Amino acid sequence: MARTIVITGGTSGIGKALARRHTELGDHVIAVGSSEEGGRRLREEAPGARFVRSDLSSLSQTRDLVERLSSEHPAIDALVLAAFRFNLARTETGEGFEHTFALYVLNRWLMAEGLRGPLENAPAPVIVNLCGAGQGGRIHWDDLQLKSGYRALTATMQGARAGELLGAAYRSERTKYVLYNPVYVATALHEPFRQPLRGLVRLASAIFAQPVAKAVPPIAALIDHPPAEPLTTWKKGKPIDLTVDPDEARRLEETIRTLTHSALS
Ligand SMILES: NC(=O)c1ccc[n+]([C@@H]2O[C@H](COP(=O)([O-])OP(=O)(O)OC[C@H]3O[C@@H](n4cnc5c(N)ncnc54)[C@H](OP(=O)(O)O)[C@@H]3O)[C@@H](O)[C@H]2O)c1
Repeated sequence: MARTIVITGGTSGIGKALARRHTELGDHVIAVGSSEEGGRRLREEAPGARFVRSDLSSLSQTRDLVERLSSEHPAIDALVLAAFRFNLARTETGEGFEHTFALYVLNRWLMAEGLRGPLENAPAPVIVNLCGAGQGGRIHWDDLQLKSGYRALTATMQGARAGELLGAAYRSERTKYVLYNPVYVATALHEPFRQPLRGLVRLASAIFAQPVAKAVPPIAALIDHPPAEPLTTWKKGKPIDLTVDPDEARRLEETIRTLTHSALS
């Protein structure tokens, strides 16, 4: 039976490859990205997928998207969270959040929470959060928005740790939560950089990174056959142990609930 699969960041790299795979299998794929350029790429490579344009670093656009998807799709089988941008310099969204935090943390929490109803209606629902699980990183509780001493890697690592904590905090009777770290995959990693660094990153990625075609099958397998456990963590196809302080997980979830609620009210 055809499944309904929502993929944020489904217009490039791993997300786009998953969009193509699942449309070829006859599934209904909704791929979300912020640019028309991404939509054009998707139409070329996965013409059966539906492109939805939305800036997912915006909480209000995320809320509108979630409402639209919930009304159009009573059941959603898989939610793949893959929208990401590596921000070399600190930028703030129109709603006043540091961009990496908005896209990598707030958006992912809002998508998972907002689509809870349609996910629970599917026969074997799964959330696959493509992230940097198992690589360290910490929450900067004294400066969540990284206003002082911003570094792109610090923001990325904080987002990765937040993903682990929010995965651990996610509660569902039926929907399985998968944290998946693909580690190093040749996608658009070079794009944020200027020349000559851009060329070097591209070259390193061509030599050392895993091709997208190799990275996708273990992720697709988790969509096809969600694990039995409520939360599992994977690194390049292998399960890994995750250590999470449940108090910190609850604290982060409460903080995000409060931040998003006040930004959206
Ligand atoms: N590639 C790796 O080596 C690697 C390693 C570890 C983890 N990961 C994780 O795997 C996931 C996929 O990575 P990837 O390398 O395949 O990604 P990618 O090729 O860089 O694609 C990123 C996607 O996110 C979308 N996006 C960015 N900003 C957005 C916004 N504001 N609103 C909506 N969509 C937005 C992009 O579309 P637009 O540009 O059109 O917005 C694009 O579809 C990410 O979550 C990443 O953290 C990747």
